[in-house]
Amino acid sequence: MGKSSKDKRDIYYRLAKEQGYRARSAYKLLQINQEFDLFTGVKNIVDLCAAPGSWSQVLSKEFKDKDCKIVAVDLQEMAPLEGVICIQGDITKESTANEIIKHFDKADLVICDGAPDVTGLHDMDEYIQAQLLLAAFNITSHVLKRGGTFLAKIFRGKDMSLLVAQMNTFFKEVYICKPRSSRDSSIESFILCRDYSPPEDYRPTFIDPLLDYKYTTEYVLAPFVACGDINDYDADQTYPTEEGYKFIEPIQPPINPPYKSFLDKRRN
Ligand SMILES: C[S@@+](CC[C@H](N)C(=O)[O-])C[C@H]1O[C@@H](n2cnc3c(N)ncnc32)[C@H](O)[C@@H]1O
Repeated sequence: MGKSSKDKRDIYYRLAKEQGYRARSAYKLLQINQEFDLFTGVKNIVDLCAAPGSWSQVLSKEFKDKDCKIVAVDLQEMAPLEGVICIQGDITKESTANEIIKHFDKADLVICDGAPDVTGLHDMDEYIQAQLLLAAFNITSHVLKRGGTFLAKIFRGKDMSLLVAQMNTFFKEVYICKPRSSRDSSIESFILCRDYSPPEDYRPTFIDPLLDYKYTTEYVLAPFVACGDINDYDADQTYPTEEGYKFIEPIQPPINPPYKSFLDKRRN
């Protein structure tokens, strides 16, 4: 899709064109790095959800001629970049984590600018983004070394304290930041987590109820329960029908079989 004239007036859009970055997002990573010094002492880096590749371009420039490895992952195919190993893969899959760690033992830094296609419904977008963040953290827990750093895009909701508390169980320092180049009108922010220190007994797993989990255990289907009095007329009825009001024997809501056997078991 062509860019609107509003996009073309945007300073970071023009700067990206001038400086050869594939997207204006490059400046978000550059500015976060200016503020938090992400790159010092780093050798192995993973760029999750990397296409079209402006963050990987920043990394490729920064680490040019240095003894380090950069692995970029995206669902979409990415045009090659000097010094960057590109993997086409889904970050919710264990196979992608295995692909990444083929290239080095553990990463010092994992960054993720992943975003789903937004719907414009903020609650929905925030929820889907949170699922992607969960996937990004999950894969990070497989590839990040102790002491490492994780940076990821989030959609800022009303209350960030739960997310910060959750991340704090795995990282010693957690910050929420919004670089200058991130549009004011966007609910996007970034979570920066430093000093990865998972609990001693923590074993990373892809078996997660929201991702790969197979629901094989016994379950109960609750019957549909209507609100209000089941013997009453329909709430929408505002005028008599041709035959006039008729009293019809109320129909009990069906109890479906799994629920019935559940009740029978409890009664016995
Ligand atoms: C905003 S773009 C990333 C821009 C990139 N950081 C850059 O600077 O060019 C978001 C990317 O997330 C990717 N993505 C979304 N879900 C993904 C998933 N499950 N696995 C891998 N990539 C995913 C999309 O394909 C898209 O390319």
